[in-house]
Amino acid sequence: MSELRWVDWADHESDRVRAAGQWRAPRDFDALGPVGTIDGRPVVSFASNDYLGLTAHPAVIAAAHAALDRWGTGAGSARLIVGSRPVHTELEHALADWKGTEAAALFPTGFAANLGVLTSFGGPDVLICSDALNHASIIDGARFSRAEVTVFHHADADHVDRLLAEAPGRRAIVVTDTVFSMDGDVAPVDALVEVCARHGALLVLDEAHAVLGPDPDVAGATGAEVLRIGTLSKTLGALGGYVAGPRRFVDLVVNRARSYIFTTAPPPATTAAALAALGVVRSPEGDALRGHLRRLVDRVAPGHPSPIVPVVIGDEAATVTAAARLLDEGLLVPAIRPPTVAPGTSRLRVALSAAHTDEQVDQLVAALAEVRTP
Ligand SMILES: Cc1ncc(COP(=O)(O)O)c(C=O)c1O
Repeated sequence: MSELRWVDWADHESDRVRAAGQWRAPRDFDALGPVGTIDGRPVVSFASNDYLGLTAHPAVIAAAHAALDRWGTGAGSARLIVGSRPVHTELEHALADWKGTEAAALFPTGFAANLGVLTSFGGPDVLICSDALNHASIIDGARFSRAEVTVFHHADADHVDRLLAEAPGRRAIVVTDTVFSMDGDVAPVDALVEVCARHGALLVLDEAHAVLGPDPDVAGATGAEVLRIGTLSKTLGALGGYVAGPRRFVDLVVNRARSYIFTTAPPPATTAAALAALGVVRSPEGDALRGHLRRLVDRVAPGHPSPIVPVVIGDEAATVTAAARLLDEGLLVPAIRPPTVAPGTSRLRVALSAAHTDEQVDQLVAALAEVRTP
């Protein structure tokens, strides 16, 4: 019976991951913002999604402290039971106002928001068209929904058009990241809005990384039905996710999404942090931070549309070596390998933040030039 022992199975599976060179474990980065230490060595991180540096903003930290003092550490219950605090509702109103929608609903994470929205609207009678490079939470949400899932060619609105034309009379959802997390390129949002409006499909946009755009005006006279999903954990420097859209859609999500209903409300302090961060994002200071970030991106890759800049090396081992050489110089840039990206496209993934200085980015650019020279 020993072949049935779970420990043997776990060892076998772990060995397979190791043999594929894909074994990973967290390493602690002792830091506030991009500068800190790993194992006592000074490091500048280019690996975080804290795009505007708001995790360390004094007003954001102060708002979290105040919420902690007022409401304590945890919400203690789901939103629909007794876990809802005024700050949750206030943030939902602020998010809806920011996104130009009637309503918004908070989730504990962006991952949970994608699961909740796709399972609320998807079902066996629905066709979900999903971009080939969508985030894992979209892939899982589409699977959980039990809808028929068709993967469309990356960022190809014409392909979506053809797929929808082949399914007349069918309720359909088109779902896409607006900025893709491994390539930092952007979806053709305006074209997708137009295609979805023409076919009566619901367009679900995941704007997790859209700190520098695109920022579509979906409330305009497009006729398209659009839900905007986002996370509080990147640009807003906190933790949580949301969906913003027409009131009747958001209310349905609140009453249907299991990842909203059967989970504890986000801690009030992180919600208050996100609310304060949103205030910064929408202020002149937010414009200045985005302007600085835009300039930093241009230093690394002129004209690139997002702060995620892939430096494709190709070979897995060479990419790992390059990341190790950068770390030796005190620059943390992760190596991204299969299965996260396609074989032969292993890369260094540079994530820039407004919290970086010009000097730090100049050092990075020089070091990247060195590791790319064979
Ligand atoms: C495109 C995209 N959507 C959703 C998520 C999940 O968001 P969260 O980290 O808030 O769960 C991420 C990354 O984490 C992401 O890159």
